[in-house]
Amino acid sequence: MQHLNHAEIDRDHQHFADITTRLKTSNTDQFKTLFSELLSHTESHFKREEQLIEQYRYPGKSEHCGEHNRLLTELRQFNQRVQQGRLSLARAYINERVDAWLQQHISNMDAALVKHIESHS
Ligand SMILES: [Fe+2]
Ligand SMILES: [Fe+2]
Repeated sequence: MQHLNHAEIDRDHQHFADITTRLKTSNTDQFKTLFSELLSHTESHFKREEQLIEQYRYPGKSEHCGEHNRLLTELRQFNQRVQQGRLSLARAYINERVDAWLQQHISNMDAALVKHIESHS
């Protein structure tokens, strides 16, 4: 995972990656608990980034927040299914797509945000 040299953001991304790693080898009960944890961690992480976006008047706000909102909508839909015991789509998502999403979002969106913060601090 790409490090951005922003301690708080890097710590959050690492935590996200740790949860998805554990999800991949979890049984049904663990998967349910970990998936809610992934959702709530992602909600808090996006809030923290969006506070920085406001604080530093980041010009890429709508694009960046739009991508956050799309992922949150997806995670909330998956989480509803998961908590009802329907795990297969969420498992496929965790196994096949979430790592690529995180990597892409970090290198396209979060890296640009951190650059902006650094040049305005
Ligand atoms: Fe972000
Ligand atoms: Fe992020």
